[in-house]
Amino acid sequence: MIKSIIRGTGKFVPPNLVTNKDLEKMMETSDEWIQKRTGIKQRYWIEQEGVTGASDLGFEAAKQALDQAGWTAEDLDFILFATLSPDIMFPGCGCLLAAKLGLNSTPTLDIRQQCTGFLYGFATADAYIKTGLAKKVLLVGGEVHSSGLDKSTRGRDVTVIFGDGAGAVCIEGVDTQESVGLLASALHTDGNFAESLMAELPASRLPQRNPPGVPLDDPRYFPVMDGPSIFKKAVRLLPKVSHEALAKAGIGLDQIDLVIPHQANKRINQAFGQFLKLPEDKIFHNIEKYGNTTAASIPIALNEAIEQGRIGKSGETVLFAALGAGLTWGACVYRFL
Ligand code: ACO
Repeated sequence: MIKSIIRGTGKFVPPNLVTNKDLEKMMETSDEWIQKRTGIKQRYWIEQEGVTGASDLGFEAAKQALDQAGWTAEDLDFILFATLSPDIMFPGCGCLLAAKLGLNSTPTLDIRQQCTGFLYGFATADAYIKTGLAKKVLLVGGEVHSSGLDKSTRGRDVTVIFGDGAGAVCIEGVDTQESVGLLASALHTDGNFAESLMAELPASRLPQRNPPGVPLDDPRYFPVMDGPSIFKKAVRLLPKVSHEALAKAGIGLDQIDLVIPHQANKRINQAFGQFLKLPEDKIFHNIEKYGNTTAASIPIALNEAIEQGRIGKSGETVLFAALGAGLTWGACVYRFL
């Protein structure tokens, strides 16, 4: 049986550190409010003068993951790139990243599933591997939020939570009878709640994507979010989808060594842990350092959890779970070889 095995991980954030105190200078907010409501202390944003896109951050994370796997870019036979903040409207970040890696024919696919993008990517990589369409897959989650945020008080609920960054994993198909690799995934979408978190413009459904006469500081150009409603959905759906993935994997929560949730709000993840009745040390948090890096948050957290020795030994099992714009939500159960 072919199993999807993680061979390497990488992460990258831009060097420009933005603290909550820095945000206080841009808008009416406070370090105290941000820490209390979200757990975030700081995030990294690209320099505004730069021309750094999500694929540039993804490139740095991908190089680390490839190094750790002992692969070269030429070894790859499929590249997946999850992002909600592509460098340009089209072509997608997968195309741009492949070119940066020096490739000119490797197939690529972009995933537009926001905070759940990494989990959709992992399940897609697994499907390609198990059907024999690919053997060595690079999966990247990368975001540059900062160039698209409303940095006035009007946008403070969204702007204080988002950070820029990228994470990457190399996934290989390995023929083994052992119960290892991606054991199960459960993925969902409910587009009826698309408007709970969206950036509306530019919009191809309009006669002109950038409507004439609409100033560039119109709120429709920025992400808008019904934060409290998404918060409530996350607290209800993350435990539910985790149990669904565990049932599919045929294992209990007692066999999970670490839960790595998407990092959207520390309070969401604490409530998620309480619903699962998990001891505090079984749930991984790093939102205080990076904010919400959306498709990048789980691969960044995975890389860090492995570096810290929290997970990664042979036979250890991790549960990933995420919910975000779409609405999209999901969970994956992965056991290390
Ligand atoms: N600084 C100071 N005050 C603020 C800020 C801020 N940055 N943002 C909002 N407030 C104010 C509001 O105006 C409101 O004031 P009022 O009571 O006078 O009206 C008050 O704080 C409370 O606002 P709420 O929105 O109810 O605050 P809440 O505790 O819900 O926190 C937050 C807001 C952090 C956005 C929370 O709702 C949340 O985390 N939601 C879920 C986010 C999420 O998971 N998103 C999905 C993933 S992201 C993706 O998919 C791309």
